Amino acid sequence: MDFEKLACAHVRTLKPYQSARRIGGHGHTFLNANEYHKSQLYFFNSTTLNRYPDCQPFEILAAEADYVGLRPENVLISRGSDEAIGLLIRTFCEEGEGIAIAPPTYGVYAIFAETNRAQVVSVPREKDFSLKAQAVIDTVKNAPFKVKAVFIDSPGNPLGGIFPEDELKTLLTELPDTLIVIDEAYIEFAPQHTRVGLIKDYPNLVVLHTLSKAFALAGIRCGFTIARPEIISYLLKVIDPYPVPDPVAQIARQALARGGIELMRERVAEIVKRREELRAHLKDLPQVTEIFPSEANFLLVRFKDGPAVFQAMGQKGIILRSFADKPGLENCIRITIGSAEELDEVMRTLTALPA
Ligand SMILES: Cc1ncc(COP(=O)(O)O)c(C=O)c1O
Repeated sequence: MDFEKLACAHVRTLKPYQSARRIGGHGHTFLNANEYHKSQLYFFNSTTLNRYPDCQPFEILAAEADYVGLRPENVLISRGSDEAIGLLIRTFCEEGEGIAIAPPTYGVYAIFAETNRAQVVSVPREKDFSLKAQAVIDTVKNAPFKVKAVFIDSPGNPLGGIFPEDELKTLLTELPDTLIVIDEAYIEFAPQHTRVGLIKDYPNLVVLHTLSKAFALAGIRCGFTIARPEIISYLLKVIDPYPVPDPVAQIARQALARGGIELMRERVAEIVKRREELRAHLKDLPQVTEIFPSEANFLLVRFKDGPAVFQAMGQKGIILRSFADKPGLENCIRITIGSAEELDEVMRTLTALPA
């Protein structure tokens, strides 16, 4: 991969904003960022909130790098993986260039492309919704614009499946000048399928992680881009000066500490067990016609009449996610694996609906 040519021309020559934090300096009196002194802080009893945070708090970079078995220079922290998706598009797609996606998939890829004037091309899936490398390669090669990045969620949302490693390796080899972004938002529910280890051999691979799903921290907005340092350094030119608020960094540090990761793994095991219990219960319901395989914290379920089920559940105060308007997913509803009590309520309510 020619990293020199990869980023947009204006990004290649861009000098990032030189914040006071970035310029740094060794001293004891810091009057360079128009902040208050900590003794003058009057909202919260904190000794850090008066200061702008580091753009990329090193402890968090190091903790995520350790978690994925790479180095801190392979990691970028952002406001959720959503911010990373937008950053990748803004950094690598010139006007008139764009991305490839494989619907049904996470909706933000297309929205962020459109809001950044990048184009979107869709790769057709097989009848069983699996995705073939050859279909991606053909779509990228025949697209009416230059495809700079392919976004694939694995496990997929809402499909719940994994993009196989051999298919990914084919893609990475056959499209050496295209970024292949594997969005692993749900990977802790299927950790054996992480592709982070391939970054060593494939410079065009980018992997996205988040604390929003298995770590149960959607509210703090913390996600990670994992890639070759050359790719990370371009993203660092474009990212906001202070994307990681100090309270976020403090919570992320606890989550990624050894105890946090152990706790997360225990919770994941519970979710996976409950997911399979729900699957077993749903199988017996006459309204259910299909339950998709899932490697994530949700089940995608096809009903005889999805919109009627969705509406009836909503009237009982149970809000699910309907995918009925997505091609191929007619009558489908995605159910998040919530607490045991929540899933009991779902089952009781579904059972009481007319067959
Ligand atoms: C596949 C996928 N990627 C990314 C995200 C966004 O995650 P974050 O909360 O880190 O922005 C989601 C959220 O639902 C998702 O399903």
